[in-house]
Amino acid sequence: MSCQKSALKTAPADLLEMPPCNFTPQEYKGMSKERMMEIRRTNCHPMTMKVTYYKKPVYIHQGHMQWLWDVDGKRYLDLFAGVATVSVGHCHKVTAAAEQQLRTLVHTTNIYVYPPIHEYCEKLASNLPDPLKVIYLTNSGSEANDLAMCMARLYTRNFDIITFQQAYKYPVAIGLGCTNTMCPDVFRGPWGGSHCRDSPVQTTRKCNCAQSCVANEHYIEQLKETFLTSVPSRIAAFFAEPIQGVGGAVQYPKHFLKEAYKLVRERGGLCIADEVQTGFGRTGSHFWGFQGHDVLPDIVTLAKGIGNGFPMGAVVTTRIADTFAQGVHFNTFGGNPLACSIASSTIKEEGLQQNSLEVGTYLMMELAKLRDKYDIIGDVRGKGLQIGVEMVRDKQASRVPLPPEDMAAIFEDIKDMGILVGKGGLYGQQTFRIKPPMCITMADAAFFLSVFNKSIQCFMEKR
Ligand SMILES: Cc1ncc(COP(=O)(O)O)c(C=O)c1O
Repeated sequence: MSCQKSALKTAPADLLEMPPCNFTPQEYKGMSKERMMEIRRTNCHPMTMKVTYYKKPVYIHQGHMQWLWDVDGKRYLDLFAGVATVSVGHCHKVTAAAEQQLRTLVHTTNIYVYPPIHEYCEKLASNLPDPLKVIYLTNSGSEANDLAMCMARLYTRNFDIITFQQAYKYPVAIGLGCTNTMCPDVFRGPWGGSHCRDSPVQTTRKCNCAQSCVANEHYIEQLKETFLTSVPSRIAAFFAEPIQGVGGAVQYPKHFLKEAYKLVRERGGLCIADEVQTGFGRTGSHFWGFQGHDVLPDIVTLAKGIGNGFPMGAVVTTRIADTFAQGVHFNTFGGNPLACSIASSTIKEEGLQQNSLEVGTYLMMELAKLRDKYDIIGDVRGKGLQIGVEMVRDKQASRVPLPPEDMAAIFEDIKDMGILVGKGGLYGQQTFRIKPPMCITMADAAFFLSVFNKSIQCFMEKR
């Protein structure tokens, strides 16, 4: 679909101009687009080709704050931030920190004592509540999560880990020892209502809950059922993101995590919060997503936004770590001087958490108006700049997901109008994900809203 003005039967809603940017990117003089695609098809793993998002791919050359430029010099508003990873702005802070560290010391091993790792661990610990003060640095979120599971099993001497449904499956066994329980998704799940979640926008489902949330009670029953039927009486851990990321910004009922943590601890398990996407102020109301649920995890895993794009991860825990130190575990690059200097430079950029709150709330409130206007926008949810817009065939009739080809058409159209967003969710990628660098402005948000409105309007007319 090409959503040109001429394709519309009626005049498009006001389409705003892209906000100005006073940065001039360098002229691109590198490899041709055709050559890059040829190498991608021939020499990169087929998964790389599979995740090439667009029919007409975007060839990125340069980034500055919330902006990206392609090799032809076209500017994009980046609302996906390399999957919620560029936290404070493209090349912001990290470039200067990296330049300085690259001239001093790029790598050594943490067998030796060097300042950047200690400076960073002290800073990170000072941003976490007691007793979460013991840090192990890794290079990615996957490493951090693997390590967290290993630590939980060593500490509890139990094996089973509870996670949520929503992951993709291969035809072979993976995730040994992990049991999926029902994801308490108040939009798509069997229960949900109009007060369930901690978001400026609720679902359009109805409920009459007065004191307690009935949907929450049902989902907690499901968790109890899992304990009763699917795992031994003692477990190692419960693993949950405060807001599901790749799953499509799915939010649970407000008290779900608090009650789940209690049930897990009664069975000897540790509670692990995956803050890989929700950490570092993105949810607006708090610096960490778990604080929005009023819980205190035993282990927190971090990555993505931690290095504003530089590969890094962390496991933060308590003296639980002492059991782990009885053996020997070594990570060559984890806590390397370059990563630590970069992470130190971005950890708490002034005003960005508040900006996430303000711009994110504005975006969600305005998106909710579009949801009320268009039947294919099923749900708008999230907190701060961790936003999901779930698309359906027709929300008056059902919550059947909008087919992938329709999602792809709208997605391509938004991109052609100069905005990059993400996609997620289990059923054919039915949720648009908006997780920009936290420096975006109200004007950027208004520009996105006008583009999104026009894309949906165009889609509806062509349907
Ligand atoms: C919530 C969450 N945890 C962990 C990971 C894995 O992180 P990494 O890709 O750095 O290994 C991801 C990646 O998308 C994620 O979204």
